[in-house]
Amino acid sequence: MRRPGAALAALAALATLACNPDDVVHRIGWFATMRHQRSIKPYARPIPPVPGTVPMTGAEPLMSLQTADRLANPRTRTSESINHGRFLYETYCLVCHGPTGHGDGPISSAAGGPFFGVRSLVNDTIARRTDGYIYAVIVSGQVMGRGLMPVYGDKVRGADRWDLVNYVRTLQAGAKSPTGRR
Ligand code: HEC
Repeated sequence: MRRPGAALAALAALATLACNPDDVVHRIGWFATMRHQRSIKPYARPIPPVPGTVPMTGAEPLMSLQTADRLANPRTRTSESINHGRFLYETYCLVCHGPTGHGDGPISSAAGGPFFGVRSLVNDTIARRTDGYIYAVIVSGQVMGRGLMPVYGDKVRGADRWDLVNYVRTLQAGAKSPTGRR
């Protein structure tokens, strides 16, 4: 009973080894393989930067509810910024927050869609928030205590985020004005 078992185990071991010749062939010294070369292996730590090197594109600051409020909006609310913000809003945000920011986009439960918990961007509470707060929720709702909102920091970058903030302000002004939509 034991011998067929052992034979089977040996066969299984052989089959595993035979699966990928690349995994075994380099173990035999006289095979020249490309595996042995001076290069960074997949997932290996790349060469660390020279001490004192500064990133040219800037690094992402770690944000929190406290630090977000201190961020200064570097983008003036020009029509160029607002128009670009509108384009980004319609690309990324409208599906949930709706065309006027009331939280009634097509996939929001407010419009019969599957996404629950979408907040209005145009009520008084959010209108009183700082630009930095809105910016930081775009980067990561999770960090800002708005965990139901997906992360957009990896999709919208740099000044584009501030253009979005500027467009959200425009929506808020529109919601307040008596001639504004709704
Ligand atoms: C998939 C749906 C969805 C999309 C797309 C989306 N949001 Fe949200 N957003 C939410 C939800 C849900 C919340 C409420 C999160 C919570 O309370 O945990 C929220 C909250 C917010 C808040 C905070 C509101 C408050 O009262 O504090 C802001 C600001 C915001 N979103 C802006 C945006 C912007 C700008 C975009 C486009 C980049 C966007 N959202 C895209 C679902 C979405």
